[in-house]
Amino acid sequence: MNFEKLKNLIIYQIYPSSFKDSNNDGWGDLKGIISKLDYLKDLGINAIWLSPIYKSPMNDMGYDISDYYEINPKFGTMEDFDKLLEEAKKRNIGIIMDLVVNHTSTEHKWFKEAKKDLNSKYRDYYFIKEGKGKNKELPPNNWDSCFAGSAWEKLDGHEGFYYMHLFEKTQADLNFNNEEVVKEVENILEFYLKKGVIGFRCDVISNIYKESLNDGKKRLYLTGREHYLSRPNVHNILKRFKENVLDKYDAFMVGETSFVTRDEAKLYLDEFDMVFEFEHASADQNTLVPAIKRKYKPKNLIEPFKVWQKEVKWNSLYLENHDQHRSLSRFGDSKKYNFLSATALASIIFTLKGTPFIYQGQEIGMLDYPYKIGPSNTKDCCVPTVYETVRKLHFPKKIALDFANNVCRDHARSPMQWDDRENSGFNEGNPTWLPVNECYKNGVNVSENLANPCSILNFYKKLIKIRKDFEAFKTGEVEFININKNVLSFYRILNDEKYLVMINLCNKTINTPFRNIKHDLVLSNYTDVSLNILKPYMSIITKLK
Ligand code: GLC
Repeated sequence: MNFEKLKNLIIYQIYPSSFKDSNNDGWGDLKGIISKLDYLKDLGINAIWLSPIYKSPMNDMGYDISDYYEINPKFGTMEDFDKLLEEAKKRNIGIIMDLVVNHTSTEHKWFKEAKKDLNSKYRDYYFIKEGKGKNKELPPNNWDSCFAGSAWEKLDGHEGFYYMHLFEKTQADLNFNNEEVVKEVENILEFYLKKGVIGFRCDVISNIYKESLNDGKKRLYLTGREHYLSRPNVHNILKRFKENVLDKYDAFMVGETSFVTRDEAKLYLDEFDMVFEFEHASADQNTLVPAIKRKYKPKNLIEPFKVWQKEVKWNSLYLENHDQHRSLSRFGDSKKYNFLSATALASIIFTLKGTPFIYQGQEIGMLDYPYKIGPSNTKDCCVPTVYETVRKLHFPKKIALDFANNVCRDHARSPMQWDDRENSGFNEGNPTWLPVNECYKNGVNVSENLANPCSILNFYKKLIKIRKDFEAFKTGEVEFININKNVLSFYRILNDEKYLVMINLCNKTINTPFRNIKHDLVLSNYTDVSLNILKPYMSIITKLK
């Protein structure tokens, strides 16, 4: 996307199942989203990333698509989608679709055709191979699924045959060595761009090209990834998308790129506007096995932001999404410093260089749904396989449950909290697909946030306004200052304007070297500000004179 447009984008991620249920069936829907566009406009965002709304059996909540050209009836119809585009456009809000093409659902007609007849051309849309061993009783290679367990599943009705799935077993991987698959994806891109979407968030895009199907190096987690993560050919495919389709529409593109290094990210910037990196998002996770928790330290959040800012020219700036636990629950202190820690965290993503992303509910300080999830009471398909895999390794139930809870994504997917009515105003009271987090009764809802000038939501609005009004926060240089390991601090410099940002991410008071400095305060989450002292979770944005 043209940089003049790109630099202004502020993106809000909607998880359709949980945003707003207009027909009281327990699931969010497109009409619900339309009814909240004025809220989003007022918040100040100008683009929506819609998690998948296509037809899907919903084994992985829509990331398992059975028809790219139809809308999931749970969410509405193609007419509703067109209406959403039209209404969003009236409010200068662009729609970004989720492009999920590493795999399709096994309910997709291509897969069904392939399964019906192994000689059909659709067999080569996927990886359908004979097993190894005397009786073909072993999978074709030793790769792991990202959701634990083998990446191969027996193909029903075809003794000795397996298909590959890097995610859940109903998500069969597409074969990008096949020219027709590449063409199919170009058609999908074109179809939605013609309708008027402004671009795509590309799901696990770094995985789409499998360089070989050889056995992988045995690892504790993700054996085989050296054969499919960010292989050079991914870029050839993405360049084709760009040249054949995307450039014609000046489309916005962000890639979800697992385990991407900074050097690899630079390569993706030839095809994408930015990537999602995961370094900062593992501030409380073991870096090799994210299912294992480590104690959160602010420096593990701060340092990755710093290195990515220094090395990669444009970044996605996010703290949460539908795959991760709520940032306030992970990196903040909702008990003692709810407003302060939520707003300190928010200050990061609007003052650094890159495109800010808000995940629905983040702007009102939504917290993780507090239940202990077991392998059978979850809506997240990866939980049972993770649990079983850990049990098979002979770990006790308690450890397997801890793992399952750590990876479980239900915590951040509970319905959006609009007000203090039943079911938080998400619907009219019918049971919701995931329970509503009770914290909506304690002020964590949109309506109470709107009414309180000192709310988290109103702070987000102020940050968004700063980001829009001050060019320095879009294009100014970023120069880091070392004050303390718990403080993210930097200047944003544009021509002769210089701004100082200091964000204390811990609950201690910290002294700074800034004394007797002339400045004009732009925004702080405290009312009483002096530059030489950072109180717990204090954030200061100021213009130096
Ligand atoms: C991405 C999505 C996630 C999904 C996975 C498989 O990581 O964000 O929700 O389960 O891809 O499509």
